[in-house]
Amino acid sequence: MDINLVQEKIENDLAGIASLQALEEVRVKYLGRKGLIAELTGSIPALPVEQRVAFGKEVNALKNKLLNFIGEKGKALKAKGGILKKNNLDIGMPGIARELGSIHPITRIIDEICTIFNRMGFSVVQGPEVETEYNNFTGLNIPLEHPSRDAFDTFYLKNYSKLLLRSHTSPVQVRAMKAHKPPLAIIVPGRVYRPDAVDASHLFMFHQIEGFLVDTNIRFSDLKGILGLFAKNVFGQDIKMRFRPHFFPFTEPSAEVDISCIICKGKGCSVCGRKGWLEILGCGMIHPNVFKQVGYDAKKYTGFAFGMGIERIAMLKYGINDIRLFFENDLRFLKQF
Ligand code: PHE
Repeated sequence: MDINLVQEKIENDLAGIASLQALEEVRVKYLGRKGLIAELTGSIPALPVEQRVAFGKEVNALKNKLLNFIGEKGKALKAKGGILKKNNLDIGMPGIARELGSIHPITRIIDEICTIFNRMGFSVVQGPEVETEYNNFTGLNIPLEHPSRDAFDTFYLKNYSKLLLRSHTSPVQVRAMKAHKPPLAIIVPGRVYRPDAVDASHLFMFHQIEGFLVDTNIRFSDLKGILGLFAKNVFGQDIKMRFRPHFFPFTEPSAEVDISCIICKGKGCSVCGRKGWLEILGCGMIHPNVFKQVGYDAKKYTGFAFGMGIERIAMLKYGINDIRLFFENDLRFLKQF
């Protein structure tokens, strides 16, 4: 047997070893009781006398080489956690884990508020951000020439003068009431757009939640009761609420709702401008003219509606002082929620 050929074969075998188990298999194959070295040693007595010593030396040298190699390789494999792949790929190395994300604070507030109203029997409905002038204004008793329309400065779509980016979520009232007969109780979260100059409390895009309920015998006291439950659930059980008369073209009577300042508990501080109260939403009883627009019998049905800015609620709840933080994608900010 040509010892050089044997050695070459062994070296090829050894090169591919990538695990302790494979190394042990090779050890048994060559150094085991019935292994190649034993076989070679066993063949010595059959050789011509003058070749025996030289052959024996070569077999011994080969055996020592093997022992040496297996010892070294074993150490290296153990150091690598027992796994070493070809091409230096170490599959025992720690993986590259994706960082866990967190829920955006605006989404969190929307989910929370929708859950509260869901429990009271409201369904969540969404409407398009590109609206018709009719749904955004006329259907809501806001004639185009009406001065109140100034309060809803609007992005119109170029080349489509009757389409706009909705300036509030109220157009979904028109859509939902045209599509369904009473009774209905609906909540509408979504984005709205107004061409406001950007500062710590204004953006050209923000989120609102609209809510409305229509049935027979719905009174202002129902609205007060529902909003009271909502405010306590979001801001805590000892929050106080007050309704101030206000004007919206699509509700009559209308009101703005304040909660007692969550920072100073009503004593007066810099957050509430020393007033002790924070404005959180607009509301009222749905105007009979809106019912007329959607084809409801205003003598038979009554209902209430309210709308609030989500960013404002989130800022009050979490003590955030700049609305821009919500949309800058700064992970140091977002990771806190
Ligand atoms: N749509 C009004 C706004 O954007 C809020 C509102 C909704 C008021 C429903 C009354 C009833 O300011």
